[in-house]
Order: sequence, then structure tokens, then C-alpha cells
Amino acid sequence: MNFEIDIKAVKPWVSDTEMKSFYSTARASLEKLHKGQGEGNDFLGWLSLPVEAKGMASQVSEMASSFSKGKDCIVVIGIGGSYLGAKAVIEALSPAFGKDRLGPEICFAGHHLSEDYHYELLEYLEDKDWGIVVISKSGTTTEPAIAFRLLNTALEGKYGQDDAVKRVIAITDSSKGALRTLADRLGYVSYVIPDNVGGRYSVLTPVGLVPIALAGFDVKELVEGAAEMMAACSMDTDIEKNPAITYASARNALLSKGKSIEILANFNPRLHYVSEWWKQLYGESEGKDQKGIFPASVDLTTDLHSMGQYIQDGPRTLFETFITVEKNIRELRVPSDRDNLDQLNYIAGKRIEEINSQAALGTMLAHVDGGVPAIRIKLGRLRENELGALFYFFELACGISGYMLGVNPFDQPGVEAYKRNMFALLGKKGFEAQTAELKKRLDS
Ligand code: PA5
Repeated sequence: MNFEIDIKAVKPWVSDTEMKSFYSTARASLEKLHKGQGEGNDFLGWLSLPVEAKGMASQVSEMASSFSKGKDCIVVIGIGGSYLGAKAVIEALSPAFGKDRLGPEICFAGHHLSEDYHYELLEYLEDKDWGIVVISKSGTTTEPAIAFRLLNTALEGKYGQDDAVKRVIAITDSSKGALRTLADRLGYVSYVIPDNVGGRYSVLTPVGLVPIALAGFDVKELVEGAAEMMAACSMDTDIEKNPAITYASARNALLSKGKSIEILANFNPRLHYVSEWWKQLYGESEGKDQKGIFPASVDLTTDLHSMGQYIQDGPRTLFETFITVEKNIRELRVPSDRDNLDQLNYIAGKRIEEINSQAALGTMLAHVDGGVPAIRIKLGRLRENELGALFYFFELACGISGYMLGVNPFDQPGVEAYKRNMFALLGKKGFEAQTAELKKRLDS
């Protein structure tokens, strides 16, 4: 595991004495997590997954090589915690232009309700050899359920019911929900999402492992990276050397100084979906009871040309967490040019990686000067191992941070409100009273 966290650029805002007190609250929260004494303690299964998921990772790797054989494309259906972890790893590790892909193409569906997208996906699949992985813990979420009905109808239409059944993997609860009923009745290969692991903490269960392995990546290394981070964040680690405690302490200390928005900033476009995964993790875990740090993200240097002005000069309610990757896979240098009309010869011969890292340093210094504190996370390389470590680090820090804030980081009661309205507006049975009430509101 090649991972480092640095909070030096938080110091101008938080004194050492203040930080020490946050460190000790964070340690108490970590202890509460390990002893299962906090709110939501029936959802702590993710804490020990790096150790427990090793067997599952080996089994899933074997299954993946036979399931993906001959397939051009696998559609992964899921939303929120049931897709973002897999999407984050696959985007982070896949070549930018599809060439040299290690496994079948992975397409995603059921993570929104766009008619055009799903129509175009069905059209795209017409001449492909394909299969489906459908993921839903509750087994009843509307977006993936609609996508599965659409795609499974097409799959059965193309291959016939008997062959289609062999082309579907279902990942859901062990006994509850419509997807479990379907899987058992039709005989799909299925995997169980443990009861005590919530969606956004489930990347190291089959929810993340199956799609990632199907894409051709090493899920054993992903779990190994998480296990290394688990060891680095144990109760025995010196409090100021514990990465999860450090991060949770720094962000809560900054919140106490009025910095209520955290921007996760990466300097590598492959990390875009890691930020999306992180936003769900922190947004759903902390944003409740009118508390929480608002999680936002930018891809740099791209967004310096759109959001840079606001970050540099807007309201001083922000702090940034920078993720940088020290070593690229490929090597590319700026060529020298005889005429130098573009005046770039001063960097001729330099690697793009070096220019990017100077841009990162320059940006951090400028933003700190502009009043935006910075936390730095450095990954040596972008590989399964580092991503596993990063996921576990963020999950553990999120549990700690949620307890520091005084919220239950493992529930998401607020997500239900839109669903109730949508069901009422669509005329679902049992929602008649809300339908009438909403119609009155919309007509007035
Ligand atoms: O973190 C969560 O629990 C949620 O974001 C869920 O992952 C998301 O709502 C999808 O739910 P399900 O897996 O039940 O379809």
C-alpha cells in the first residue's frame, strides 16, 4: 500500500491544542465503532470485510473468468451504493479509449431514469454477445428494477428464456425483496449482500467484487489493499499516525471553523468516479439532523477553468482534500520544437506527470493563500491495492466522522421522501392519500 495523508495545510486554521482535542474525540469514536456501541451498530459488517472478503474475492475471480468468456459486454444494473464502487474502480483502472481492455466492456444501467439512455443501450447491445449483473440490496429499488425488466426482456428475446437465465447474475439480500424472489424462482446465479453492510459501504462485498472481477481486475489485490489500510488504522496505531483518525479529525476541526463544504479534488481524470463514490458515502452518512459537511468534487486541472475562480475567491466556507497519484503507468514527454512559436520549449523534455504535479502544488498553494485549507492524500500508484486502501480509509473515517458529528452514519431516512412522492404521482397502490394531496399542491 502506497498511501500518505498530510494535514500541514490545515494548521494555519487549527491550533495544535485544538487539533489534539479533535484527535482524542476521533479515537473515542473509533473505539465506539469497534465496540459496536454507537448508533447504527447493526450495520458494522464492513469493518471486518478486508479480512472476511478474501475467500469471496478468490471465488468471484474464478466465476468471473467463466462468466465473461465469449461476452462482448456485461450490463451492470444498480444505483447508489449498488453501482458507484464498481464504477469507480473500473473507470480508475480502465484504459481511456477502450483499447487493451482486460475483460468484456462493462456498461451501467438503472442508475437514472433516462429513456434515451436505456433505448440507446438496448440498441447498442443488439449485435453484441452480452449478459447482466443486477444488484439491489433491497431488491425493490425502482430505477434498477425498471432497467432489469427492460434489459431482461431483451435478453430473453435474443437468447430464449433458458439461455438468458444463464446470462444473469443477481446480487441481493439473502431472503427479502423482489429480486431475491426472482433469482430463486428463475434460478439465477446469485450472491448475497450481508445484512449488516449498507449499500454505500458494500464495495468489498459481491456488489463491488463481481463487476470489478468481470472487468478483468484483481479483486484479491483490492481486498488486500483494504486489509493493509485496516491494519494501519487499528486502535493500536499511534493516534496521530492513524490515517482515518487524522482525516476525520482534520475535517471536523475545519467544520468547527466554519468550513462546511469539502471539495475532493483530484488531478487525474480516472478518479472522477472515486469522487462520485466518496460524495455518496459522506453525503448520505453525514447529511442528517441539519448537520454535515457538504461533499463536492472537482477534476483538476480541468475544473480550474470553470470552478477555480469560486474556489480561489468565493465565500470562505470551503476546504479541499486533494488526491494525487504520484506515478503514471505510461511515459510521455513534451517534445522540443525548433521554432518554439508556442513558447513551450521551457518545458521541453519534461514528463506530463511532472507538469501535472507542479500544477497540483501551485494550485494547493494558491488556494491555501486564498483562504482554503488543504488536506493532501497521496497515492503512489493507481492500482487495485491503492484503491482498496483508499476505500477502506474513507469508509472508516466516515464512520468516525459521523460519530464525531453526532449522527448515525449508517442510515439514510431522507432518501425515502422522493420515493414516496414518485410512487404517489405514478399511482402506486397504497399511496392514494399522498396522490390526492400532491395533485392539489401541483394544481394550486
Ligand atoms: O447506501 C445506500 O444504502 C443507498 O445508496 C443504496 O445503495 C441505494 O439506494 C440502492 O439501494 P438498493 O441496493 O437497495 O437498490
